[in-house]
Amino acid sequence: MALTPLIAGNWKMNGTPDFGAALATELAKNFTYKNIEISVFPPFTSLTTVKACLENSPIALGAQNIHEAAKGAHTGEISAEMVKACGCKYVILGHSERREAGETDAAVAAKTCAAMAEGLVPVVCIGEKAKMEPHQAQAILGSQLRDSLKNIAITDGDQIVIAYEPVWAIGTGLVPTTEDLEQAFDFLRVTLVKTYGEGVGGQIRLLYGGSLNAENADEILPIPHINGGLIGGASLNAESFLSIAKAASKYA
Ligand code: PGA
Repeated sequence: MALTPLIAGNWKMNGTPDFGAALATELAKNFTYKNIEISVFPPFTSLTTVKACLENSPIALGAQNIHEAAKGAHTGEISAEMVKACGCKYVILGHSERREAGETDAAVAAKTCAAMAEGLVPVVCIGEKAKMEPHQAQAILGSQLRDSLKNIAITDGDQIVIAYEPVWAIGTGLVPTTEDLEQAFDFLRVTLVKTYGEGVGGQIRLLYGGSLNAENADEILPIPHINGGLIGGASLNAESFLSIAKAASKYA
């Protein structure tokens, strides 16, 4: 069964609710592709406003992080239940910008567990920090995948999404070669199938992230086992984000 591509826009720490409303309204008005899914990940403070703007649209909403605890004395933190109540379907976990601030694989696993318990779909991010030989990168990806999903029971490929984002490609304009991407995604698919079996591991969507834009989408998105993208900078503009969605719809 072919997987429905997911084009996910990570807005990071950009924009007030007014900015989010304008961008979401523009996306809702112009998103017409039926064979792919798109989702936006605004800052927490814009979630309810953006949700209202997406009311009659198939565009899904996601959050950029959650705390692993269900509730309690965690000043400044936000729980899975809270973002779910704002209308989120997805949550990004273990983004490299959070890992850089100290988030470990174990913390990502705890958050993944909390998200799934609430029925959210985690978009778990992994990626090597520096450019390196494919086999070295694969060793890092393999261990991040194993430890970020430690003790998580995945019984359906729809329960989770994995985003491969080489850290050196994020926000830099640099992207891996097609050959390196082919090898990396092949490795990720084989690893998922080995771990969860063909029926589940073969159905988990794998996204590419890192300087994905309207110009390079046609080179990156057709690569086997790439089932969409996690887009930062280019997701802050409706036209460029929708151009990437259009490219994805060609390869769905
Ligand atoms: P970028 O960010 O598209 O701006 O490189 C991707 C990400 O961090 O998810």
